[in-house]
Amino acid sequence: LQFSQVREDPLIDAGVVRRSPGPDRHVMLVASAGCTALSLLTESTVRTIEAVDINPTQLALCRLKAAAVACLESPDLLAFLGAVPGAPLDHWPHVARELPAADRALWENHRDWLAMGVLRAGNYERLFAVWRCFLHQFVAAEGLCRDLFASPGLTAQATTFERFNQTYWPVGFTLAFHADFLNAMFGPKATQHAEGPYDRYFEGVFRHAITAVPVRDNYFLSQLLLDAYLPDEPDGLPPYLQPRHLNTVRRGLERIRWRQGTFPAVLGEREGPPLAMVQLSNILDWCTADEGEVIAAALIPHLLPGARLLVRQLNNTSGLPQRLNERLQWDAEADRTLQAAERSFFYNRVAAPAVLA
Ligand SMILES: C[S@@+](CC[C@H](N)C(=O)[O-])C[C@H]1O[C@@H](n2cnc3c(N)ncnc32)[C@H](O)[C@@H]1O
Repeated sequence: LQFSQVREDPLIDAGVVRRSPGPDRHVMLVASAGCTALSLLTESTVRTIEAVDINPTQLALCRLKAAAVACLESPDLLAFLGAVPGAPLDHWPHVARELPAADRALWENHRDWLAMGVLRAGNYERLFAVWRCFLHQFVAAEGLCRDLFASPGLTAQATTFERFNQTYWPVGFTLAFHADFLNAMFGPKATQHAEGPYDRYFEGVFRHAITAVPVRDNYFLSQLLLDAYLPDEPDGLPPYLQPRHLNTVRRGLERIRWRQGTFPAVLGEREGPPLAMVQLSNILDWCTADEGEVIAAALIPHLLPGARLLVRQLNNTSGLPQRLNERLQWDAEADRTLQAAERSFFYNRVAAPAVLA
């Protein structure tokens, strides 16, 4: 289990969907930890969502979250996932009844993941837990991190950041984002396009998120600094976990198909209606140029004219596959706006080109 939370802002995806050809929309995206697929159910014009992932354990997590949404009311849902303090295993028997037998067996074998709150169980979340432990021990105690989220504006945020121990601040990134650690977790392919070392890259994006943009509704940042969402802020939870959306998301669950495989494999056997939006997460960061071209070739026949592609890149400034590039209309200004609005602040690029007719 690599990712137990999606570190991509679903409000960006929702905005891009609204700019895609409608009125009824069919969408394909990377499943990862399922947060974006589930959150897009709040968009009533999205008729179907095909959520693709090569990793079956990620899809088991997605189905677990969907089952929890189906059967638990809001406080129990948050407690089961570990979003608020509670006893996750108390709710497991209810969720288990909603799952296919193979998934039940997988989660029974990983009761430790459930017990810790499954939102903490991914390897990436554990990496951030290591970073956060160092942060609280040497850079900024938990109370100081809480002060940051109580800051009334950017000046106060910058002042709070000055109280972080600046001698130790860079060291946490050096330790947690060491190349050996990242390679052990994701393999060398995931870092093949790195523009520079990840420790300094992450140090820069964290500094920006803490000092240069509002933190108050940034649940991505609070999760990293405090191991907690911001349930008292209007957008302090992923949409699929917000009580006001729970019934809508629950009613929409049948609109999602969780599909295991690579994009080319899933697209190769797909017979569904043309797609209005395809979100590729940052999988192109993980692909060689040739693999990117294979994904592009598989995608093109399934895209509506005017369809939106949504791509993110992390520490990677290389271009998109040539085959796709030549069929896309770019709007650099709009993409800069998207990147600036992306509360999960990890990406050097967030872009939503339109497919030419
Ligand atoms: C690209 S990763 C990055 C994580 C993402 N930025 C997030 O915050 O959740 C997301 C997922 O992509 C999946 N993945 C990577 N390459 C893929 C491919 N070629 N086809 C399908 N899924 C892929 C991985 O298994 C992983 O679960």
